[in-house]
Amino acid sequence: MELQVTNSPFNQEQVELLNRLLPTLTESQRVWLSGYFTAINGAAGSASAGSVPVTAAAPTVETVSKEVTVLFGSQSGKAQGLAKKFSKKLEEQGFQVTLSSMSDFKPNALKKVQNLLVLVSTHGEGVPPDNAISFHDFLHSKRAPQLDGLRYSVLSLGDTSYEFFCQTGKDFDKRLGELGGKQLAPRVDCDVDFDEPAAEWMSSVLSSLSAASASQSVAVSGATASSAAGAESEFSRTNPFEAEVLENLNLNGRGSDRETRHVEISLEGSNLQYEPGDCLGIYPENHPRLVEELIEAMGWDADESVTVNKNGDKRSVRYALTRNFEITVLTKPLLEQIAKLTINTDLNGLVAPGNEQELKSYISGRDLLDLVQDYSLKGIAAGEFIAVLRKMPARLYSIASSSKAFPDEVHVTVRAVRYEARGRERYGVCSVQLAERVKAGEALPVYIQNNPNFKLPENPDTPIIMIGPGTGVAPFRAFLGEREETGAEGKTWLFYGDQHFSTDFLYQIEWQRWLKDGVLTRMDVAFSRDTDQKVYVQHRMLEKSKELYQWLQEGASVYVCGDEKRMAHDVHGTLATIIEQEGGFSSEEAAEYLSRMQQQKRYQRDVY
Ligand SMILES: Cc1cc2nc3c(=O)[nH]c(=O)nc-3n(C[C@H](O)[C@H](O)[C@H](O)COP(=O)(O)OP(=O)(O)OC[C@H]3O[C@@H](n4cnc5c(N)ncnc54)[C@H](O)[C@@H]3O)c2cc1C
Ligand SMILES: NC(=O)c1ccc[n+]([C@@H]2O[C@H](COP(=O)([O-])OP(=O)(O)OC[C@H]3O[C@@H](n4cnc5c(N)ncnc54)[C@H](OP(=O)(O)O)[C@@H]3O)[C@@H](O)[C@H]2O)c1
Ligand SMILES: Cc1cc2nc3c(=O)[nH]c(=O)nc-3n(C[C@H](O)[C@H](O)[C@H](O)COP(=O)(O)O)c2cc1C
Repeated sequence: MELQVTNSPFNQEQVELLNRLLPTLTESQRVWLSGYFTAINGAAGSASAGSVPVTAAAPTVETVSKEVTVLFGSQSGKAQGLAKKFSKKLEEQGFQVTLSSMSDFKPNALKKVQNLLVLVSTHGEGVPPDNAISFHDFLHSKRAPQLDGLRYSVLSLGDTSYEFFCQTGKDFDKRLGELGGKQLAPRVDCDVDFDEPAAEWMSSVLSSLSAASASQSVAVSGATASSAAGAESEFSRTNPFEAEVLENLNLNGRGSDRETRHVEISLEGSNLQYEPGDCLGIYPENHPRLVEELIEAMGWDADESVTVNKNGDKRSVRYALTRNFEITVLTKPLLEQIAKLTINTDLNGLVAPGNEQELKSYISGRDLLDLVQDYSLKGIAAGEFIAVLRKMPARLYSIASSSKAFPDEVHVTVRAVRYEARGRERYGVCSVQLAERVKAGEALPVYIQNNPNFKLPENPDTPIIMIGPGTGVAPFRAFLGEREETGAEGKTWLFYGDQHFSTDFLYQIEWQRWLKDGVLTRMDVAFSRDTDQKVYVQHRMLEKSKELYQWLQEGASVYVCGDEKRMAHDVHGTLATIIEQEGGFSSEEAAEYLSRMQQQKRYQRDVY
């Protein structure tokens, strides 16, 4: 954006100077400057708290402590992975780093922290991930201390398709500021394609932390930056492995309303490692019919070449819409960008300020084809239109195998998402590709998403309670496979549920074998549609509340996997009820009991 007197706080002379200078700056120079100014402002603002203010003429004065605390809040491991990588980078730059999950961090220690980096995702409907809840609550409570000496910066992970985009990161940023903290570098809110903005944030934090030492070059180059956000193996989220599909079966019986694929994938030659509780990321392809319909609706030439990334790589329109870009989700930023490409006044009206509710309800459940049809967008050039689309995000699947039981393989359990909306059949991009268009022998781009927040207890004797209806049962096949292979002796209890016993009992034979062999100590099932009244896993838990509480008292760890919106919420409530009833606690004490279990990593959830 060109600076003007009207859109900036500068006078005409300054605007002209800046407009001459800014386009000549390299990315790392811009980032350095940004960090430099933030450092000056932060130091000036905290001067009364004892630090030495830096002046523009004296950037070499040491003002910044070399100690940095990096706190993460992460559900499925992405923010945690970034926190780990960035901590390593800080250490390489000579900083002393304390890296901790928010749930492991003693809030009282916050007063002593001078440099704080917060990396946090958002879950639910704009709520913190499980391991950030207690710290988030603490900071927003009356007990939160004044933090006048604190310099901090927040990196938020999120997804613009959610209404409360990056809400938790925004909460932390606002609250730390209210408590007196000064920003080391501005907060960065990342959409699903987070590698680049995350690396830029880190670069600006590093610049700011190091601004006191002019001789210290801290710019992070593009290449280093993206590798900072990647995984350790040669193959990662940003460089997926083309893995061969070994097997692809429907686990549901004939007559079921559901289709659940058991997909076995070879990791041979990839050197990719995983543990039970980790996820497999799969980059899917859009449905070819939807791609063709979109091309036709826009009047594009499917073979025209378009740019697909910042490196300037070119692909045909058909290829780009199939593999590179998301075409099934509408987001507010996307509609705002598309509106700029058209003179359609209705679309421009929809994205205009004041129409947020209308926009929200339009976006919900519609895709790009709906948009181009509803607003007659035919005529916008393919290159211009495609340039504003989101990159195709990978889908995560809880790994359903133990690598000890299946070396060089990874298994996933994928339910096909199909529904009808506005008179058109809709297909889940990845799940329906796996259900309809991926055969054994074909390849899929995959990577491992480590999730340290859903892990078997270190002590093999610890009892585990696993609650996983539907596809939520997937990681428990991995847990039991692992316990069988390692000969772990801890008791195990599985609560499983789905619609019908006869058609939807996923992996039934395997559970039965494990029950027989003693790897699985107990199993309770709830088939919701075999009886007049619906029966869910939490009903079975309540029926066994005495034993379940007994297991908790013996130190059992509880794992919940599957539907986040209803099931996980209801199961949480049921656990609280059981603790209240069987332990003779008040509801506050029961909530405290569960929160303590969460702190101790004895209550972990993999929910989606
Ligand atoms: C950590 C994690 C672990 C996961 N593990 C598993 C797993 O083990 N197995 C598994 O099957 N999935 C799992 N998922 C979900 C998985 O990642 C995908 O989200 C899922 O397969 C759907 O992807 P898709 O590309 O097929 O559908 P998409 O194209 O992404 O479409 C899904 C979207 O369609 C919409 N939708 C779905 N049904 C309806 C409806 N009836 N009416 C209106 N709109 C609807 C919703 O907006 C939904 O978000 C996991 C997700 C996470 C985050
Ligand atoms: N965020 C995403 O990207 C995404 C994508 C796809 C799926 N999902 C979620 O993933 C979930 C898992 O889907 P799934 O098909 O494997 O299984 P599911 O829909 O969760 O169904 C499994 C069993 O759970 C029951 N159930 C329904 N509501 C429940 C509740 N409140 N408490 C306990 N059990 C309940 C179902 O019963 P009934 O069906 O008889 O009610 C069924 O018997 C879906 O619910 C969906 O919300 C999320
Ligand atoms: C069930 C679920 C709910 C989510 N809710 C939100 C949300 O409300 N706002 C948002 O910006 N992102 C939301 N996200 C997106 C996550 O924040 C995003 O995927 C992030 O990269 C996850 O990082 P993590 O692995 O560190 O938890 C949600 C994701 C899931 C699976």
